[in-house]
Order: sequence, then C-alpha cells, then structure tokens
Amino acid sequence: MNILVTGGAGFIGTNLIERLLEDGHKVVSIDNYSTGFETNEIEHENVTYHNVDLRDAIDFDFFMENPDLIYHLAALPRIQPSFEFPALTFEANVLGTINLLEWIRSKENKIPIVYAGSSSFHGGVYKNPYTFTKWQGEEVVQMYHKTYDIPMSICRFYNVYGPHQLTEGEYCTVIGIFEKQFREGKELTITGDGEQRRDFTHVFDIVDGFVKCGNSLVIPNAYNAKVDGEIFELGKGENHSINVIAQSFDSGYTYIPKRPGEVQETLCTDTKAHELLGWKPTIDVLDYIEGVRVLWTEKM
Ligand SMILES: NC(=O)c1ccc[n+]([C@@H]2O[C@H](COP(=O)([O-])OP(=O)(O)OC[C@H]3O[C@@H](n4cnc5c(N)ncnc54)[C@H](O)[C@@H]3O)[C@@H](O)[C@H]2O)c1
Repeated sequence: MNILVTGGAGFIGTNLIERLLEDGHKVVSIDNYSTGFETNEIEHENVTYHNVDLRDAIDFDFFMENPDLIYHLAALPRIQPSFEFPALTFEANVLGTINLLEWIRSKENKIPIVYAGSSSFHGGVYKNPYTFTKWQGEEVVQMYHKTYDIPMSICRFYNVYGPHQLTEGEYCTVIGIFEKQFREGKELTITGDGEQRRDFTHVFDIVDGFVKCGNSLVIPNAYNAKVDGEIFELGKGENHSINVIAQSFDSGYTYIPKRPGEVQETLCTDTKAHELLGWKPTIDVLDYIEGVRVLWTEKM
C-alpha cells in the first residue's frame, strides 16, 4: 500500500515506519520536526520525509497524491509543556487534524485515517491542555466520519516506551528519564510519592495494534473485524507504580515534587482490540527494564 504517516520523525512514528517498510509498504512522512528528529529518518528506497507543518492548510497531494491509508500521529505530545503553550498545542493537535481531514474531504475517494489518541482521556478531558486537544482531535475525526463518510478509527495509546523514546528534555517520559539517569549513574527522580500507577505499553506492541487497525480499515475483513468508526484502547492491561519501576532498575532514587495535571492511575481494561483486531500485547515492562539494566551494567 501507499501510506502517509504524519509525525513520522517522532518516537512512535519512527517505529511505525520501520514496521510498514518491513511489511513492504511505500511510505511518505510529513513532520515539522518540532519534537521529532532528522536522526530518526530511515534510509530506505520506499520512504521519503518532508518537512511540513500541519498547521498550514496545504495541498498534501504534492507529497502523496492518493494514499491508501493515513496514520495520523503528528502532535505536540506531552502534558507538562501544554500548560505553558495551550494555544500552540491546540493549533498542532486540533487545527492540524482539521487541515488533514479537509484535504481528505476534498477527494473523491475518501482516504481512511487512523488517529493516535491518548489514554489520558480517561483521567478527565479538562485536566490539562494536552488531554483536551487530543480529545478534540478525536471529536474532529468523529465529526468528519459521521458528516462526510471518511473511514476512520481511533487508537488510544497507554504510556508508550521503547526504542527511539526521548531521554531528555521536557517531552521526555518517565522510562526515558530513568534510563538516562541510570546510564549516567545518577539517582532516579520519582515525582510525588511514586504511588501513581501507569500501564506501560511497549512501542512494538502499540505499533502492532495500530497496524492491525489500519489494515482492518483498508482490507475489509482482514481480521474479521469491523473497525470503521471504532475506538480502540491499546494498553498492556496491567499497571505498576512508579516506585516499583524505579526499584526494578536496582539503583538509588530520590523524590521530587508532584507535577500538575497528572492522573493517579492509567490502566487499560477494554479488550475490544483483542477481540476485533486479534491484537495481543506481548512485552512486559519489567522484563524490558531488566534487559536495559543488564546491557548498561555490562557496558559501565
Ligand atoms: N508516547 C506516548 O506515551 C503517547 C501516549 C498516548 C498518545 N500518544 C500520541 O502518539 C503520537 C506520537 O507521539 P510520540 O510519543 O511519538 O511523540 P513525538 O513528539 O516523538 O512525535 C510527534 C511528532 O509530530 C510532529 N509534529 C508536531 N507538531 C507538528 C505539526 N504541526 N506539523 C507536523 N508535524 C508535527 C513532531 O515533530 C514529532 O515528530 C502523538 O499524537 C501523541 O499524542 C503518545
């Protein structure tokens, strides 16, 4: 298939493109490199990268005229920076999504789109600007689906970690921060009392669910599924406290103040993705950390 990926230079986008190339697809990435990196670009004859800002309403035909499928990942993706930049977060996450859908609407053959949603939805959509804008993105996709018959699915991701994750800066997530601190022999910094629990889901599992969803949307009955218009929850289905995660590095740790806008717990209890898509997450976060720990202990 010909596939358009937005946010292809980011963490999840890079893992997605690796998988799509392995599966034999032709891929075009559009990304404005605000939180993504040129160093993530994969050298392969079947992928091209373009520096494009989705906040600009442009004709995406220039990059890929008639994709069979779109994976929409581009967004400003974190809670904490969104407090400082709510308008910018809204523009990237909501206006960017509208611009993409307007382009699809202009076409005779409506291109199916799979939207990267966030599990933060379950903690309350007004808890922080990020969560609000990701939910508004979902609503916009729903509106274009219901009003203009654009085929779509939404996949809500739970606390993603793994290769290409950020390990520094304000867009960094907790496993990335802990890995960096561990490598540098520093104490791990736990926010609050560390009893908040997260459903950590490996990026390979996330990508597998996302791809199963996309395939099912394009190839009717690919997995005996009817996925058009559905929302899927992609989470491992078990959670751990941040204290347990830190302790599993077998390293020193310390506590720093709690951050605003964070929920106490994420946990995926919905199994629709298992039933309709045949998706089954396989990687355990504690096994992953053990691998990281052994690898870096040998190198030190
Ligand atoms: N990482 C997680 O734990 C997680 C959890 C839930 C949902 N998500 C969602 O998954 C998607 C990917 O997240 P990620 O962790 O890979 O983040 P990321 O920052 O690594 O990737 C996002 C990409 O979008 C690009 N981008 C941002 N604004 C853009 C714009 N205006 N135009 C074009 N490109 C733009 C960035 O440059 C970046 O490459 C996001 O939509 C995020 O909300 C991620």
